[in-house]
Amino acid sequence: MKIIIGNDHAAPMLKRSVCEHLKDKGIEFDDMGVAPGEKCDYPDKAKEVCEKFLQGGYDAAVLICGTGVGMSIAANKIKGIRAACCSDVFSARFTRLHNDANVLCFGERVVGAGLANELVDAFLETPFEGGRHQRRVDKIMALEK
Ligand code: RB5
Repeated sequence: MKIIIGNDHAAPMLKRSVCEHLKDKGIEFDDMGVAPGEKCDYPDKAKEVCEKFLQGGYDAAVLICGTGVGMSIAANKIKGIRAACCSDVFSARFTRLHNDANVLCFGERVVGAGLANELVDAFLETPFEGGRHQRRVDKIMALEK
């Protein structure tokens, strides 16, 4: 498994702790986020990370900003992206099961480090359920046209 992760200036510390968690779990990742003291606009970072993700070689992407909301709004404008802003583990799990979400977003100003790790674990460990949900995901993707 390999993931790609990005953050804006509102989330360097939570990004750092999520990266430590991924390292502990032996999960490979590319960190495209900004470091403490650097600034970026979340739509630019969402675009950069999602475009790299869509080039292939990654199983999922994680975007972190102050709330997770701005990153998810921006990411969902990019064709092929299904981004979910989650601050509870149930949603992180079900957005994989039912929506086949490929990008997880959350906010450093909203969730703590422990919960962020659980969100990431739930998202990465849960497969898409397919079946009746495939038809609905196809309908979401048709909205891009
Ligand atoms: C940046 O201050 C903040 O607006 C951004 O990180 C995010 O929370 C937007 O949704």
